Amino acid sequence: MKIGHEPLVIGNWKMNPQTDTLAKRLAQDLKKALAHKDDVTVVVAPPTTFLATVDAVRNGAKSFRMGAQNVHKESLGAFTGEVSLPMLRSFSVEYVIIGHSERRAAGETDTQVNEKVTAVVKAGLMAVVCVGETKRDHGAHYLGDIERQIREAVKGLSRAKLASLVIAYEPVWAIGTGQNATPSDVHEMKLFIQKTLTDLYGRNYAQKVRILYGGSVNPKNAGEIMKDGMVDGFLVGGASLSAKDFAAIVESARSVLV
Ligand code: PGA
Repeated sequence: MKIGHEPLVIGNWKMNPQTDTLAKRLAQDLKKALAHKDDVTVVVAPPTTFLATVDAVRNGAKSFRMGAQNVHKESLGAFTGEVSLPMLRSFSVEYVIIGHSERRAAGETDTQVNEKVTAVVKAGLMAVVCVGETKRDHGAHYLGDIERQIREAVKGLSRAKLASLVIAYEPVWAIGTGQNATPSDVHEMKLFIQKTLTDLYGRNYAQKVRILYGGSVNPKNAGEIMKDGMVDGFLVGGASLSAKDFAAIVESARSVLV
């Protein structure tokens, strides 16, 4: 099956592993495991403290690209504990995850998500915006939540910038639970996200946005979700901490190309 975009698979290490030595080992294993998968864009988003180590292991190799899990909207100043885009850039970061549900649960608002998207895209980096419902209801009110999250996130974003936007559909109930959304649910949501973007920007521009699925993706379910969910790739949490599992997920994403 042929899909519109080159598949994109992002590994979100979250607050793992515990030491720089372990981060280095994982990066080395990933570099080896991903060596020949160049027709898929693979991104690794380690904790900020390990960016330097992971980038050094990568050493410019194309096996994966650098990602970050969060960013501040300002580029410098009195913002204790925050990290800016120029800082991330100095470790080759090209993709920034924004509005992950774990950050939203800690208080990140739609407005802050929008400010970060605006800053990331303006700086020429890729913004990976996470959206997802906390639970599903029979009246499908959750669709309204997804629509609101998307509309708020892209407020003020011109259509010329849409190629710098990725939407990751991550139902909160599926994250870290081992309970993934079914391929048909994923497909339905992909169409809904595309419709929301089409209403805002028109079909041709909306199609520039890559749509990923995240939530308990593993080597067993990845192929089916990719094929029948018809997404452009994955945002992977837990399984990205194993080079073997992550490489198998990348391989599943790749298999839709042939
Ligand atoms: P999970 O996390 O793969 O461990 O469910 C996904 C995510 O939070 O991005």
